[in-house]
Amino acid sequence: MMMGSGMSESKCWFNIQLLMLMLLVQQSMQLRWNHPLHEVVDQINRHGGPYVGLVLAFLAEERPLLASRLFVPDSDFPVNAAITPEILLQAFDVRGVVHYGIAGGTDTSLNVGDVGVANYFAFTSSWKWTQFGSTDRGELKFGAYNLPSAGGNLLAELQFTPVQLFSNGKAMEELFWLPVDPHWYQLAIQLKGLKLQRCLNETLCLPKQPKVVLGLRGSTANVFLANEAYAKFLLQQFNISIADEESASVLMTSLSNGVPCIVFRGVSDVAGGDHLALAGLSSLAAVNSFTVAAKFVQLIARKKATF
Ligand SMILES: *[C@@H]1O[C@H](CO)[C@@H](O)[C@H](O)[C@H]1NC(C)=O
Ligand SMILES: *[C@@H]1O[C@H](CO)[C@@H](O)[C@H](O)[C@H]1NC(C)=O
Repeated sequence: MMMGSGMSESKCWFNIQLLMLMLLVQQSMQLRWNHPLHEVVDQINRHGGPYVGLVLAFLAEERPLLASRLFVPDSDFPVNAAITPEILLQAFDVRGVVHYGIAGGTDTSLNVGDVGVANYFAFTSSWKWTQFGSTDRGELKFGAYNLPSAGGNLLAELQFTPVQLFSNGKAMEELFWLPVDPHWYQLAIQLKGLKLQRCLNETLCLPKQPKVVLGLRGSTANVFLANEAYAKFLLQQFNISIADEESASVLMTSLSNGVPCIVFRGVSDVAGGDHLALAGLSSLAAVNSFTVAAKFVQLIARKKATF
């Protein structure tokens, strides 16, 4: 359902394009002494900070960033490294992570081009697969989705398992829902009426004016979700309306490092929706999610006192 990426493992070490941006100096250095990034990181931290980390995953998502000219690569350090949020947070003086990108919609009230601002994400591919014939109460009964009619099958049932969050100075927590930063979310509410792009050019436009949609729940899994029945299940069972392959990982890394994180996901297609006809327009999902992320960065820059 999301654009194909060739990335599978979603936990932590996925390949992330990372762009380091803006603001003023402080030192923070925990890289191995002979790490090749050492010198660059050192100089960047001497240059400025604290920083905001803008995290994205696909080329399609990088395009609107580069095209916007809102963020210009530093002339000395045009950082554009394929390293993870963990390295981002370990190496730089980062006070928060803004993550944007595209997602699949499970909810037909969402349209292509809309940007979802979720309060929570869950890992939905961490499963406990129950034994065939087991009487454990699983949460997903595969047999209920058999076609042409429901009935048992050898896949039995599965339960969704929470993740264990370890963070500085706190006891381990088991969580299913990983929260975005509540203060940043409150700030993001101001972006509700933000004008998003509807047309690719003069003739090719989305059927509806896209909008910012707040208060959603999102799913992250190492699957490319194209199955309408499963999308419906996620919506009905968990009220999940957007699905992607990275957000919960970025959130979890931020949570365990104790830095605020927020996620903006543009809907590139909707399960069961007319996605083929809209194929050319799905790039607006990346454009619009970037627009919202960029506006949010301006908001936090303005509110620097609390940041
Ligand atoms: C608009 O974009 C579509 C898809 O890229 C293209 O086929 C079409 O020719 C474009 N129309 C104009 C007027 O540029
Ligand atoms: C489900 O999510 C929507 C937002 O997508 C929200 O308006 C609604 O209140 C939620 N429903 C429940 C039962 O939590």
